[in-house]
Amino acid sequence: MTQELPSSGPGSWAGGGQFERDLELTDADFARIRQLIYQRAGIVLAEHKREMVYSRLAKRLRHHGLTRFADYLARLERQPDAREWEAFTNALTTNLTAFFREAHHFPLLATHVRERRGPVRVWSSAASTGEEPYSIAMTLAEALGSRAGDAEVVATDIDTEALEKARAGVYAMEQIHKLDEARVKRFFQRGRGAHEGLARVRQELKDMVDFQPLNLLAPSWSIQGPFDAIFCRNVMIYFDKQTQARILERFAPLLKPDGLLFAGHSENFSYTTEAFRLRGQTVYVRKAR
Ligand SMILES: C[S@@+](CC[C@H](N)C(=O)[O-])C[C@H]1O[C@@H](n2cnc3c(N)ncnc32)[C@H](O)[C@@H]1O
Repeated sequence: MTQELPSSGPGSWAGGGQFERDLELTDADFARIRQLIYQRAGIVLAEHKREMVYSRLAKRLRHHGLTRFADYLARLERQPDAREWEAFTNALTTNLTAFFREAHHFPLLATHVRERRGPVRVWSSAASTGEEPYSIAMTLAEALGSRAGDAEVVATDIDTEALEKARAGVYAMEQIHKLDEARVKRFFQRGRGAHEGLARVRQELKDMVDFQPLNLLAPSWSIQGPFDAIFCRNVMIYFDKQTQARILERFAPLLKPDGLLFAGHSENFSYTTEAFRLRGQTVYVRKAR
């Protein structure tokens, strides 16, 4: 699903097509925001994201009754542990995702886990609003049959609001319309009455997924390996090469031997790290140490 906001912010379009703003985002404010989100989340905000940044953060300023971005930023910087950091980070993340996004990964995952012994564990490391970890869980349930009871998906994200939505597991019917009927029946409950048009993930599937907040940039991760597979899709694209390399080096020891790393469609890690070797179509295998 997309949570990408339109590039226009709150307010209205003036007659001549020029955007009217009631707050001013100066070059200095924007530069500071870019620096702060880079330090906090590793996200490199492109120059053209200015309108998006304005619209998302203007809501936070209004929430606090502030009229100047500089005051908002000074307030954030004065309080390194404030809850507002969470809201600031949530506001600047992009949660675009979908069920069975990059569909070729899932049959590969199914074959991989069928061949493995012992309890299967998969980490969805930028889980967003849940579509990815639930797609993984459906794949494990189908592939493992009676062994699925021992399977676990650990789903993490920096964005706590996205995780809340993921935990709730309620989606618009349009989001699952491409899933085949048998899957919908087995893993979702269709809403009735006031919930018409919505589908809820069944408890059987929810029980397989453990959601936790985790910043891939944090100096230590509250997560225990080893995993049979790690999904890290469509998040590295926001990080610079150095940050990507650091994260990949940290993934490697968390994977079991021959464990797989699934990357996003436009992410190429071949030249970023020695720890993995490309197995094909954005899937990497951990090299033996
Ligand atoms: C575009 S979504 C991708 C979701 C899913 N992996 C997929 O491919 O469909 C990127 C996700 O990365 C998360 N993210 C951004 N920076 C992060 C960080 N430093 N640590 C963990 N997650 C982060 C965002 O909150 C967002 O939910």
